[in-house]
Amino acid sequence: MLEVSGISRSFGGLKALDGISLSVAQGSITGLIGPNGAGKTTMFGVISGFIAPDAGSVVYQATDITTEPAHLRARRGIARTFQIVQPFAGLSVGENIAVGAYLRHASPSEAKARAEAVAARVGLGAMFDRSASALTVAGRKRLELARALATEPDLLLLDEVLAGLNPSEIRDILPVIQDIRASGVTILMIEHVMQAVMALCDDIFVMAQGRMIAEGKPDAVCRDPMVIEAYLGHGAAARMQEAGNA
Ligand SMILES: Nc1ncnc2c1ncn2[C@@H]1O[C@H](COP(=O)(O)OP(=O)(O)OP(=O)(O)O)[C@@H](O)[C@H]1O
Ligand SMILES: [Mg+2]
Repeated sequence: MLEVSGISRSFGGLKALDGISLSVAQGSITGLIGPNGAGKTTMFGVISGFIAPDAGSVVYQATDITTEPAHLRARRGIARTFQIVQPFAGLSVGENIAVGAYLRHASPSEAKARAEAVAARVGLGAMFDRSASALTVAGRKRLELARALATEPDLLLLDEVLAGLNPSEIRDILPVIQDIRASGVTILMIEHVMQAVMALCDDIFVMAQGRMIAEGKPDAVCRDPMVIEAYLGHGAAARMQEAGNA
């Protein structure tokens, strides 16, 4: 469904992305993980059209969209959430969601009906008429998800939608994500919560310092020495091996 090849992008002297390739199979939940500053969010910017790459290509459903503006990619069915959630604080929860729905529904009543359906789906039904500024962190995360879903995407990019949630809030939202996939939406998710990554993802890509260092099934990726080193520091894989043998 999505084929990203050889993407590079620098910010001044910093090479945030250095020849990144990844692919997402239709119908999958694919994980994108890696330590802070690896370039994951920058990668989402490139896929969604917010950031122009210096090199490489983004091919979506067999069409090269590398230079296409973000709003046209949204129309094609690519939606993203933002790591730093910023709801329109002066609008209600329902109005925030309707902003996404206007992509495909010009009439306010249709956009509202669509927003109501999405709110119910992510567990925000009871908050629909409340001000977005009244939401807790967990509520804001759900709203971010709802705004993206309201655009009726085929490919949904989730940037740390579980960050800042407590374990019970995470348990509550995992079935919501599974249900979104079951409804036919393909998901690419950036996530640090490994319990969720292991539970949800079919395939995982691991980035570190602008490069792709591993890819594969969740259990294999977690045992990969390169991945352990990237997370825990140089020599960590050997130290863990020694500890295991002792
Ligand atoms: N607009 C920008 N201008 C300058 N540097 C940037 C910009 N955006 C990102 N960077 C830098 O690029 C690198 C990758 O950042 P990015 O946000 O993509 O990482 P990340 O993997 O999403 O990290 P985190 O897990 O902390 O969210 C970082 O060193 C960051 O400081
Ligand atoms: Mg990020």
